[in-house]
Amino acid sequence: MGSFRIIGGMRLSGTVRASGSKNAALPIMAASILASEPVRLEGVPRLADVDTLALVLQELGVAAERTPDGNLLMETIDPTPVRARYGLARRMRASFCVLGPLLARRARAIVPLPGGCNIGDRPVDLHLKGLAALGADLRIEHGYVVAKADRLTGATIHLGGRRGPTVTGTANVLSAAVLAEGTTTITGAAVEPEIVDLGNFLRALGARIDGLGTHTIRIHGVGELGGTSYRVIPDRIEAATLLLAAAITRGSATVAGLIPAHLTEVLAALRAAGAEVEVQAESVTVTADGPPRPTDITAAPYPGVPTDIQAQWMALLSLARGRSTVTDRVFPNRFMHVAELNRLGACIQRRGASAVVSGVERLSGGSVTASDLRASAALVLAGLAAAGQTIVHRIHHLDRGYERLDRKLGQLGAEIERVSAKTSCGNTGSLVQ
Ligand code: EPZ
Repeated sequence: MGSFRIIGGMRLSGTVRASGSKNAALPIMAASILASEPVRLEGVPRLADVDTLALVLQELGVAAERTPDGNLLMETIDPTPVRARYGLARRMRASFCVLGPLLARRARAIVPLPGGCNIGDRPVDLHLKGLAALGADLRIEHGYVVAKADRLTGATIHLGGRRGPTVTGTANVLSAAVLAEGTTTITGAAVEPEIVDLGNFLRALGARIDGLGTHTIRIHGVGELGGTSYRVIPDRIEAATLLLAAAITRGSATVAGLIPAHLTEVLAALRAAGAEVEVQAESVTVTADGPPRPTDITAAPYPGVPTDIQAQWMALLSLARGRSTVTDRVFPNRFMHVAELNRLGACIQRRGASAVVSGVERLSGGSVTASDLRASAALVLAGLAAAGQTIVHRIHHLDRGYERLDRKLGQLGAEIERVSAKTSCGNTGSLVQ
């Protein structure tokens, strides 16, 4: 239960490299269940969520070892386990991504239903609808999905929901369909880069998939998949968070090792807010020399502005010269960060699925508490800009999805340090390295 201690006011500068994508790595790791040969994954970030999924997979008979050069070796050493343990899986919703691969490769799966979540309602009805369409027999028993299917059969499945496509729902159904008998057509599929990356990984294993990156994905089932060596894409959410950190501190920083095409809408919004954005082949530089212009932001499925940086945008816009509206069409209740930002002097009001942000001259440092992964990133960004000291408590939320964000921000000149729980009440104390 550590914290970050931040002294605000430093303008970020310099260059930092993005890590591999958490939301690509997790479904790809789960899909390694499908491989009949060893899998070597490169660029998998060192995160709590990755460690949790590795433990879930190990209990499912898939060895997941980090090599000295940082790669992740995955190999099925016991294909018989089919039950994911609640005590582990409940730590991380994306554990639910093992359902489709288990069902396809081992014909059985007993996976805990994901529990509640701070960002809002997280149903899995579309996951279950898609797997049932492939012929699976699914029952809910004692908080688990109990699934069985001696052989999955290709089908035409519409996965679009009232709030747009489902990212991990597409991952589960795609991962199951690659070993189904015959052809599967998924309409209303998610087009996020992380799904394209999963699809490319499955193709590297020998799967036959067309239409990745479009809302209609066609899969021709095969009998078996081999192994592969695969590098996951850079993390566009981490990259966007770092670019927004440059903007909120009125600095000039470069994030390298990213795919600019994955950030098109984010970069357009940064330009609209008055930042200077320079795009190179694999890096982006953001420069801001004053407060942002008020900008209305609507978080939407890809290629829209991602819901996973809605909170970070709100932190930036809290210092705009005027009023902005932030709307989240994916998770209409993803506003836990509003109250905490207001504690730092922001002036934000909830209005249903939106929040109205009235820009203020400055934020003032204080103690705030993280509630979920991306809200904690927003609080860090606010702390970087706030006058004085900010302590962000419960940063284990942040460590789930950002690889040493404190070190990266420190590289850019931020005054940020990780303090242990016992010293994080703001008094002096030893720094936990
Ligand atoms: C993925 O979650 C990401 N997680 C989330 O990132 C991200 O916020 C989200 O996609 C949206 O982009 C991973 O990839 C591990 P969805 P997921 O299913 O797949 C509704 C982070 O911070 N829905 O695409 O769970 C749902 O309620 C995390 O890294 C149904 O109605 O999200 C939501 O309104 C947070 N029925 C919308 O679809 C279903 O069966 C999109 O959800 C499934 C979803």
